[in-house]
Amino acid sequence: MTRIAVLGGHGKTGRAVAVGLADRRAEAVPLGRGAWPDLPDALAGCDAAYLIAPNLHPDEPSYVGQALAAMSVAGVRRVVYHSVASPYVPEMPHHLGKAVAESRVRTSGLAWTILQPGAYLQNLDLSGPTVRVPYDVDAPFGLLDLADLGAAAASVLLEDGHDGATYELATRRTTTRELAEEAGLVAERVPDPGTHPWLSAMFDYYDRFGLPVGTLPLRALLGKS
Ligand SMILES: NC(=O)c1ccc[n+]([C@@H]2O[C@H](COP(=O)([O-])OP(=O)(O)OC[C@H]3O[C@@H](n4cnc5c(N)ncnc54)[C@H](OP(=O)(O)O)[C@@H]3O)[C@@H](O)[C@H]2O)c1
Repeated sequence: MTRIAVLGGHGKTGRAVAVGLADRRAEAVPLGRGAWPDLPDALAGCDAAYLIAPNLHPDEPSYVGQALAAMSVAGVRRVVYHSVASPYVPEMPHHLGKAVAESRVRTSGLAWTILQPGAYLQNLDLSGPTVRVPYDVDAPFGLLDLADLGAAAASVLLEDGHDGATYELATRRTTTRELAEEAGLVAERVPDPGTHPWLSAMFDYYDRFGLPVGTLPLRALLGKS
Protein backbone atom coordinates (compact mmCIF):
# COMPACT_ATOMS: atom_id res chain seq x y z
CA MET A 1 0.00 0.00 0.00
CA THR A 2 1.25 3.51 -0.85
CA ARG A 3 2.25 5.39 2.32
CA ILE A 4 1.88 9.18 2.38
CA ALA A 5 3.20 11.26 5.28
CA VAL A 6 0.84 14.11 6.18
CA LEU A 7 2.65 16.82 8.14
CA GLY A 8 -0.01 18.61 10.18
CA GLY A 9 -2.06 15.45 9.71
CA HIS A 10 -4.08 15.68 12.95
CA GLY A 11 -5.67 19.04 12.03
CA LYS A 12 -8.84 19.55 10.00
CA THR A 13 -6.91 19.91 6.73
CA GLY A 14 -4.78 16.84 7.39
CA ARG A 15 -7.80 14.74 8.36
CA ALA A 16 -9.50 15.67 5.06
CA VAL A 17 -6.39 14.60 3.15
CA ALA A 18 -6.33 11.29 5.06
CA VAL A 19 -9.95 10.61 4.09
CA GLY A 20 -9.14 11.36 0.43
CA LEU A 21 -6.21 8.95 0.58
CA ALA A 22 -8.23 6.22 2.30
CA ASP A 23 -10.87 6.53 -0.45
CA ARG A 24 -8.07 5.67 -2.91
CA ARG A 25 -6.76 2.81 -0.73
CA ALA A 26 -3.57 4.67 0.21
CA GLU A 27 -2.30 4.99 3.78
CA ALA A 28 -1.90 8.40 5.44
CA VAL A 29 0.80 8.68 8.11
CA PRO A 30 -0.25 11.75 10.17
CA LEU A 31 2.65 13.63 11.75
CA GLY A 32 2.21 16.35 14.40
CA ARG A 33 4.58 18.22 16.71
CA GLY A 34 5.67 14.95 18.30
CA ALA A 35 7.36 13.86 15.05
CA TRP A 36 9.67 16.85 14.81
CA PRO A 37 12.47 15.80 17.22
CA ASP A 38 13.36 13.11 14.63
CA LEU A 39 11.46 14.01 11.47
CA PRO A 40 13.59 11.96 9.02
CA ASP A 41 12.89 8.87 11.11
CA ALA A 42 9.15 9.63 11.16
CA LEU A 43 9.16 10.08 7.36
CA ALA A 44 11.12 6.89 6.62
CA GLY A 45 9.31 4.48 4.30
CA CYS A 46 6.87 7.07 2.96
CA ASP A 47 6.49 7.38 -0.82
CA ALA A 48 5.47 11.05 -0.71
CA ALA A 49 4.52 13.78 1.76
CA TYR A 50 1.68 16.28 2.04
CA LEU A 51 3.01 19.36 3.82
CA ILE A 52 0.68 21.55 5.90
CA ALA A 53 2.09 24.35 8.05
CA PRO A 54 0.37 25.20 11.36
CA ASN A 55 -2.03 28.13 11.23
CA LEU A 56 -0.23 31.52 11.41
CA HIS A 57 3.20 29.93 11.87
CA PRO A 58 5.54 32.85 12.68
CA ASP A 59 8.15 31.64 10.16
CA GLU A 60 6.51 29.36 7.58
CA PRO A 61 9.47 29.42 5.14
CA SER A 62 11.74 27.98 7.86
CA TYR A 63 9.15 25.38 8.89
CA VAL A 64 8.80 24.32 5.24
CA GLY A 65 12.57 24.39 4.68
CA GLN A 66 13.17 22.09 7.66
CA ALA A 67 10.45 19.71 6.51
CA LEU A 68 11.92 19.57 2.98
CA ALA A 69 15.40 18.89 4.35
CA ALA A 70 14.05 16.03 6.46
CA MET A 71 12.25 14.59 3.42
CA SER A 72 15.50 14.60 1.46
CA VAL A 73 17.33 12.82 4.29
CA ALA A 74 14.52 10.27 4.59
CA GLY A 75 14.46 9.56 0.85
CA VAL A 76 10.91 10.89 0.33
CA ARG A 77 11.01 11.85 -3.35
CA ARG A 78 7.76 13.74 -3.77
CA VAL A 79 6.12 16.61 -1.86
CA VAL A 80 2.75 18.36 -2.19
CA TYR A 81 2.74 21.70 -0.39
CA HIS A 82 -0.52 23.12 1.02
CA SER A 83 -0.20 26.83 0.26
CA VAL A 84 -3.07 29.31 -0.14
CA ALA A 85 -4.90 31.14 -2.93
CA SER A 86 -3.17 34.45 -3.82
CA PRO A 87 -0.05 33.81 -1.70
CA TYR A 88 1.74 36.83 -3.21
CA VAL A 89 -0.63 39.53 -1.84
CA PRO A 90 1.63 42.06 -0.05
CA GLU A 91 -1.15 43.19 2.32
CA MET A 92 -1.42 39.74 3.97
CA PRO A 93 1.81 38.77 5.79
CA HIS A 94 0.91 35.11 6.35
CA HIS A 95 0.09 34.74 2.65
CA LEU A 96 3.49 36.20 1.78
CA GLY A 97 5.13 33.64 4.08
CA LYS A 98 3.56 30.94 1.93
CA ALA A 99 4.80 32.65 -1.25
CA VAL A 100 8.37 32.44 0.06
CA ALA A 101 7.78 28.85 1.21
CA GLU A 102 6.50 27.96 -2.28
CA SER A 103 9.85 29.09 -3.63
CA ARG A 104 11.66 26.76 -1.20
CA VAL A 105 9.48 23.88 -2.41
CA ARG A 106 10.20 24.66 -6.08
CA THR A 107 13.95 24.75 -5.44
CA SER A 108 14.08 21.77 -3.06
CA GLY A 109 15.30 19.19 -5.57
CA LEU A 110 12.26 17.03 -4.76
CA ALA A 111 9.44 16.37 -7.22
CA TRP A 112 6.80 18.90 -6.17
CA THR A 113 3.22 20.03 -6.63
CA ILE A 114 1.68 23.10 -4.99
CA LEU A 115 -1.99 23.43 -4.05
CA GLN A 116 -3.40 26.93 -3.44
CA PRO A 117 -6.70 26.44 -1.61
CA GLY A 118 -9.31 29.16 -1.18
CA ALA A 119 -10.86 29.72 2.25
CA TYR A 120 -12.68 26.61 3.45
CA LEU A 121 -16.48 26.44 3.17
CA GLN A 122 -16.37 24.86 6.62
CA ASN A 123 -14.96 28.09 8.14
CA LEU A 124 -18.46 29.59 8.04
CA ASP A 125 -20.69 28.77 11.00
CA LEU A 126 -24.06 27.99 9.42
CA SER A 127 -25.63 26.72 12.66
CA GLY A 128 -27.69 29.94 12.55
CA PRO A 129 -29.74 32.01 12.74
CA THR A 130 -27.09 34.65 11.87
CA VAL A 131 -23.84 34.08 9.95
CA ARG A 132 -21.33 36.61 11.29
CA VAL A 133 -18.08 37.57 9.53
CA PRO A 134 -15.75 40.54 10.15
CA TYR A 135 -15.83 41.71 6.51
CA ASP A 136 -18.26 42.71 3.76
CA VAL A 137 -20.90 39.97 3.44
CA ASP A 138 -21.06 40.67 -0.32
CA ALA A 139 -17.31 40.25 -0.91
CA PRO A 140 -16.55 37.60 -3.60
CA PHE A 141 -14.87 34.34 -2.59
CA GLY A 142 -13.81 31.08 -4.12
CA LEU A 143 -14.53 28.70 -1.22
CA LEU A 144 -13.19 25.16 -0.95
CA ASP A 145 -15.05 22.20 0.51
CA LEU A 146 -12.60 20.16 2.60
CA ALA A 147 -13.94 16.93 1.07
CA ASP A 148 -12.92 18.25 -2.36
CA LEU A 149 -9.51 19.18 -0.98
CA GLY A 150 -9.01 15.60 0.22
CA ALA A 151 -9.97 14.16 -3.16
CA ALA A 152 -7.76 16.64 -5.06
CA ALA A 153 -4.81 16.00 -2.74
CA ALA A 154 -5.16 12.25 -3.29
CA SER A 155 -5.19 12.79 -7.06
CA VAL A 156 -1.97 14.78 -7.15
CA LEU A 157 -0.27 12.49 -4.60
CA LEU A 158 -1.18 9.22 -6.27
CA GLU A 159 -1.34 10.00 -10.01
CA ASP A 160 1.39 10.91 -12.47
CA GLY A 161 1.50 14.18 -14.38
CA HIS A 162 1.42 16.73 -11.55
CA ASP A 163 5.13 17.33 -10.96
CA GLY A 164 5.94 21.04 -11.26
CA ALA A 165 2.26 22.05 -11.24
CA THR A 166 0.57 24.73 -9.12
CA TYR A 167 -3.21 24.52 -8.82
CA GLU A 168 -5.58 27.00 -7.19
CA LEU A 169 -8.53 25.20 -5.64
CA ALA A 170 -12.11 26.32 -5.05
CA THR A 171 -15.36 24.38 -5.04
CA ARG A 172 -17.59 27.37 -5.79
CA ARG A 173 -17.56 31.14 -6.23
CA THR A 174 -19.97 32.78 -3.85
CA THR A 175 -20.47 35.35 -1.08
CA THR A 176 -21.26 35.06 2.62
CA ARG A 177 -24.71 36.55 2.02
CA GLU A 178 -25.50 34.01 -0.71
CA LEU A 179 -24.46 31.05 1.45
CA ALA A 180 -26.42 32.34 4.43
CA GLU A 181 -29.56 32.89 2.36
CA GLU A 182 -29.30 29.41 0.84
CA ALA A 183 -29.37 28.05 4.38
CA GLY A 184 -32.31 30.28 5.34
CA LEU A 185 -30.06 32.44 7.51
CA VAL A 186 -29.07 36.10 7.71
CA ALA A 187 -25.50 37.33 7.07
CA GLU A 188 -24.14 40.06 9.30
CA ARG A 189 -20.86 41.94 9.31
CA VAL A 190 -19.37 42.21 12.82
CA PRO A 191 -16.27 44.06 14.12
CA ASP A 192 -12.86 42.40 13.76
CA PRO A 193 -12.22 40.56 17.06
CA GLY A 194 -8.55 41.59 16.82
CA THR A 195 -7.16 38.17 17.78
CA HIS A 196 -4.01 38.41 15.60
CA PRO A 197 -2.60 41.27 13.50
CA TRP A 198 -2.17 38.98 10.47
CA LEU A 199 -5.84 37.96 10.69
CA SER A 200 -6.84 41.63 10.97
CA ALA A 201 -4.83 42.34 7.81
CA MET A 202 -6.58 39.42 6.09
CA PHE A 203 -10.06 40.57 7.16
CA ASP A 204 -9.27 44.09 5.92
CA TYR A 205 -8.22 42.65 2.54
CA TYR A 206 -11.30 40.37 2.42
CA ASP A 207 -13.44 43.42 3.19
CA ARG A 208 -12.13 45.31 0.18
CA PHE A 209 -11.51 42.55 -2.36
CA GLY A 210 -12.75 39.20 -1.02
CA LEU A 211 -10.61 36.26 -2.14
CA PRO A 212 -11.84 35.13 -5.56
CA VAL A 213 -10.49 31.79 -6.76
CA GLY A 214 -11.16 29.94 -10.01
CA THR A 215 -13.00 26.63 -9.92
CA LEU A 216 -11.73 25.00 -13.14
CA PRO A 217 -8.50 23.40 -11.83
CA LEU A 218 -10.40 21.54 -9.09
CA ARG A 219 -13.05 20.38 -11.54
CA ALA A 220 -10.32 19.06 -13.82
CA LEU A 221 -8.55 17.26 -10.96
CA LEU A 222 -11.80 15.63 -9.83
CA GLY A 223 -12.78 14.69 -13.39
CA LYS A 224 -15.94 16.81 -13.35
CA SER A 225 -17.16 18.41 -16.57
N1 LIG B 1 -8.70 27.68 7.09
C1 LIG B 1 -8.66 27.98 5.79
O1 LIG B 1 -9.65 28.43 5.20
C2 LIG B 1 -7.39 27.76 5.02
C3 LIG B 1 -7.36 28.02 3.66
C4 LIG B 1 -6.18 27.82 2.95
C5 LIG B 1 -5.05 27.38 3.62
N2 LIG B 1 -5.11 27.14 4.96
C6 LIG B 1 -3.88 26.69 5.62
O2 LIG B 1 -4.08 25.41 6.22
C7 LIG B 1 -3.15 25.30 7.31
C8 LIG B 1 -3.85 25.02 8.61
O3 LIG B 1 -4.44 23.79 8.59
P1 LIG B 1 -5.50 23.37 9.72
O4 LIG B 1 -6.53 24.42 9.87
O5 LIG B 1 -5.91 21.99 9.37
O6 LIG B 1 -4.64 23.41 11.02
P2 LIG B 1 -5.02 22.83 12.43
O7 LIG B 1 -6.37 22.14 12.38
O8 LIG B 1 -4.82 23.93 13.39
O9 LIG B 1 -3.87 21.70 12.60
C9 LIG B 1 -2.57 22.08 12.84
C10 LIG B 1 -1.64 20.87 12.69
O10 LIG B 1 -0.32 21.38 12.74
C11 LIG B 1 0.41 20.71 13.78
N3 LIG B 1 1.26 21.70 14.45
C12 LIG B 1 0.88 22.75 15.22
N4 LIG B 1 1.97 23.44 15.64
C13 LIG B 1 3.04 22.81 15.12
C14 LIG B 1 4.44 23.05 15.17
N5 LIG B 1 4.95 24.07 15.85
N6 LIG B 1 5.26 22.21 14.49
C15 LIG B 1 4.76 21.18 13.80
N7 LIG B 1 3.45 20.90 13.70
C16 LIG B 1 2.60 21.70 14.36
C17 LIG B 1 -0.60 20.12 14.70
O11 LIG B 1 -0.02 18.94 15.21
P3 LIG B 1 -0.36 18.27 16.62
O12 LIG B 1 -0.86 16.93 16.21
O13 LIG B 1 0.93 18.23 17.35
O14 LIG B 1 -1.40 19.12 17.33
C18 LIG B 1 -1.79 19.84 13.78
O15 LIG B 1 -1.65 18.55 13.19
C19 LIG B 1 -2.46 26.63 7.48
O16 LIG B 1 -1.21 26.59 6.82
C20 LIG B 1 -3.44 27.57 6.77
O17 LIG B 1 -2.82 28.76 6.32
C21 LIG B 1 -6.23 27.29 5.66
